[in-house]
Order: sequence, then C-alpha cells, then structure tokens
Amino acid sequence: MTEVDPTETSRAWSALTAHRDARADVTLRELFAGDDDRGERLALAVGDLWVDISKQPVTDDTLGLLADLADERGMPGFMERMMAGEPVNSTEGRAALHTALRAPHGTTIQVDGTDVVHGVHDTLGRMADLVDRLRSGRLLGATGRPVSALVSLGIGGSYLGPAMATGALAHQAHPDLDVRFASNLDGADITAALRGLDPTTTLVLICSKTFTTAETMVAAESARAWLADGVGTDVSAHLAAATTASGRAAAFGIDPALTFSVPDWVGGRFSLPSAVGLGLMASIGPDAFGDLLAGMRAIDEHLAATPVSSNGPMLLGLLDVWHRSFLGASSLAVVPYSSQLGLFPAYLQQLMMESLGKRVLMDGSAVTGDTGAVVWGAPGTDGQHAFFQLLHQGTEPVPCDLIGVARPVADPRQAHHDGLIANLFAQAEALAFGLTTDEAATTGVPPDLLAHRTFPGNRPTTVILAPELSPSVLGQLVALYEHRTVAAAAVWGINPFDQWGVELGKSLARRITDELVDGSGPLAHDTSTNSLIRRYRRLRGRSGE
Ligand code: F6P
Repeated sequence: MTEVDPTETSRAWSALTAHRDARADVTLRELFAGDDDRGERLALAVGDLWVDISKQPVTDDTLGLLADLADERGMPGFMERMMAGEPVNSTEGRAALHTALRAPHGTTIQVDGTDVVHGVHDTLGRMADLVDRLRSGRLLGATGRPVSALVSLGIGGSYLGPAMATGALAHQAHPDLDVRFASNLDGADITAALRGLDPTTTLVLICSKTFTTAETMVAAESARAWLADGVGTDVSAHLAAATTASGRAAAFGIDPALTFSVPDWVGGRFSLPSAVGLGLMASIGPDAFGDLLAGMRAIDEHLAATPVSSNGPMLLGLLDVWHRSFLGASSLAVVPYSSQLGLFPAYLQQLMMESLGKRVLMDGSAVTGDTGAVVWGAPGTDGQHAFFQLLHQGTEPVPCDLIGVARPVADPRQAHHDGLIANLFAQAEALAFGLTTDEAATTGVPPDLLAHRTFPGNRPTTVILAPELSPSVLGQLVALYEHRTVAAAAVWGINPFDQWGVELGKSLARRITDELVDGSGPLAHDTSTNSLIRRYRRLRGRSGE
C-alpha cells in the first residue's frame, strides 16, 4: 500500500473531486427517472446477500472512478497481501489473518514460514470436543454434576462478536444450556450474568487475547471467587480461557486442557471465528459454528476472486470513502430490521471505528482529509420512532445501511414479518425520494404546514436483503463488513488493525483508580479531574483518609 496521502497526489482522487463537483445537484429522483433498470443494475449478489446500492448518490461513472481509485491506491493488492499472511499490520509488525480462521482444512497459509491453518483446525477440534460434552451433559463440574451454563467474560472484540452472534442465532440455541455474557467493568454486569446460576453447574469462559485487560481480569477474579464459594478452592473444572497468553491463563489457574488458543495474528475485533467464539459455539453447536465459518469463507472467496467493479465488500468500502472524503458525511447509521441483530450496530462500532478512527497514514504522517465516520444505529422499526426524524428532515444527510431478512425466525399469527420488511423498503424509498411541497399539497396538507411536511429526499441508503438469519448468512454479513472496513482503510492508507487510541485512557484510569482508593498523595491532574476525584472520594466517604 502506498503511504502517500491520496488527496494530495492521486489522479483518481482529483477525477472524483471533479466528478462530484459536476454532479453536485443531481438528485436520486433524477438518477432513477432517467434510468429504467437502475434498481437491478446497481445491486449485486454477494454470496446469499442482495446488496442494493442503487439508492446511493452514484452513477456508473462514479463507480468506475471509485474502482480506478481502488486500483491506484493498491487496495485489491492490500487485501491479497492480508489474506496471504503478510505483515500488513505494520505498526504491530504482524499479519492480520482472520481469513485463515475460516480457511478449509488442507489449505496452507504461512506466517513466518509456518502453516497456520493446521493449528486453526486443531483448536476448532478441541473447541468442538468441549462443546459436544457440554451440550450432551457429559461435562462434569467439580462436584460431579453436569455443567449446564456457560458465562463468557470479555470486552470489545472478546465480547461483541460472540454476544452479537449468539443473540442473532438465538433461535438455534441449545434449549438446556444457558449461555450468558458479561463485559462491563460495572460490577452490576457480572452480578446480573451470574444471577440465578449455580457455581457447581457453571463454566466461566475468560476471553481475552492479552489476558491483561483490566475489565476482564476484575470480572474473572469476581467469577473465580463466586465459583470458589460454591465448589471450594479447586475451581479448575469450572474455568476455561480463550487467549493468546496461555501462560497468564495458567497462572490464573486455568487448566491447559481448557485453554484455547487465539493466534496473535487475529485482531480482537476480527476474532469471532476464533476460540473467542466458544460461547457462540456452545450455544448453537459445532456444526452451526462450522456453517458460520463457511459463510465467512464464501465472502473471503468472493473478495479474492471478484473484480472491484462487482466486488461487494470493496464497493461498500469505496462508498464509505465516497461519503466521507468527497460528500462530507460524518456518520453511518446501521439499522437491522431484525431484533435478534440488535447488537449488530454495537459490533460494527468496534469493527469500523477502532479500525478507521486514525489520523495518521501507515508511515506516521498526518492525513490531510477525513477518515472513519461515526457508526451508530439501532434495530428497525424501533429506530424509526427515535432517530429517523433527523434522517428524513434533519439538515445533514446521513448514509444508512438498512438490513433485512426475508424469512422470519418467528412470526406468531403471521402478523409481523411482512410489515417489518415493508417498513424497511418504505424507509429506503422515503429517504431517497422524499415528498415535494407540491406532492404534500395534493395530499391535503394545509398551506401553513407544507414546509413542515415536505421531505427533501436524496438521503442515501444501502439495502442489504438476506434470505434468512442462518449461521452461514450471519457469517457472510460479518465478513462483508470486515472486508469493507479494511478496503476503506487501504484506500485511505491507514492501518485498520491497530488501536493505539485506547491506550492513553487506560493508563490514566489505572493511575486514577489508585487515587480514588488512596487519597494520601497529591493530585496532579487538571483542576476539573482533581475536583472530580475529590468529590467522588467524599461521596464514597473517603475524604478523611
Ligand atoms: O479496546 C481495546 C482492545 O484492545 C480491543 O481491541 C480488544 O478487542 C479489547 O481491548 C479486548 O482485549 P483483550 O481481548 O486482550 O482482552
């Protein structure tokens, strides 16, 4: 990947800027009016997903120019090098090989001269063995009782993927196995997660690549104490780990037989298909987990084999660049019309904002334009009754991804699903085409309300329609967003695989934690922070210490 800011040097960038300026006033109404098959032509099948970008502010020319930009920036080559195991994570000096986690048995991908696929399948086999015993009641706790609950502890990438996917596939959950997650440092979170469970029948899975993350370690210690209260001092039958740091897990008291390796070439936010997904595998079973991996692999293959002009993840990444760098959009809303995909926007926040929230290029020089947008969202139709007002009539167009699933996971009385999907399609149509003042007048709107009841339209959406919420489709959706994110980063020339931005706050929190507990030393923060620390100490009755 070139390390030069494209806004300064790129011919394709300049061509896109000129193209944007020339078509600045063209509306989606006009684009559709002059183009009878736009709705079909500007949509593509990506695996089982139908990805409709026709309501995006683009023409065939725009897409051609964006493909030129991708080529000029070496984006396809970067994706290729990533999948080949090259050290594309330059600031941490390692590969970013999440695609190897779903590579088929028998393929070879080398990192530093060693094949990694064999190890991946070894771990998957060990995970499946544990999960089979768990799901069949053959995994016994310290007192000889079968384990019937799994509590997965972890945060960020060690939580969002498996929690999101376990929720998404709740209709496939084992009926007699209680799988729960806790992530927040707030003690209320783990307290809620353990509530009603019996330590003698519970397995606590500690997911942490580093096994040093403060939130997870505090929760792990609380869980270990809770287990010890129930089963006595030897809690090793009730603790498992998914980690890169097997030594630290062993020091914590976790049996190597219950420790599952997360390779260091997997980024946390890309780690769902690794051992971090053990909670998900426990819930849906090894076969369904295998289907999830197969779905991801289908998109990996699409990514590798499809030219930019019809490559789903690459086009979506290029559209993100188009919106952010050329049209000035500052956020992306993601609205899944599926309550079981409720955590998907939060999952994408980490994936996209940790990956794209960068202000320097690969070589450390400052970017001159904008990079990652704010990602946010909530399930439809709830979002329609909360933030869609701003999407329709606010002053800033917000690009939206609207995600729908054709076949329902549940539809009591057959009264829900058609209405749900009708809302998705209706929102995309209303956002794109709006309602002119004249049209509003013909519907009988009184003149004094016409301005209020006019919809400007021209608000961009991508509609993603999936046939069903199966493990394979979910895997496809996740991989689509993973590759889209990396594709955008490659065009911008930033490193999507590091997250140094979280470190400063972490180290300050460590220092302040000590100061909140022990007030004997002087406080050397700014006056606001010093004052907040003192006020907190008073509220906790510690001021006299
Ligand atoms: O938030 C920073 C981060 O490093 C994420 O990238 C990561 O997913 C999360 O913390 C958890 O890290 P670990 O798996 O090492 O506990």
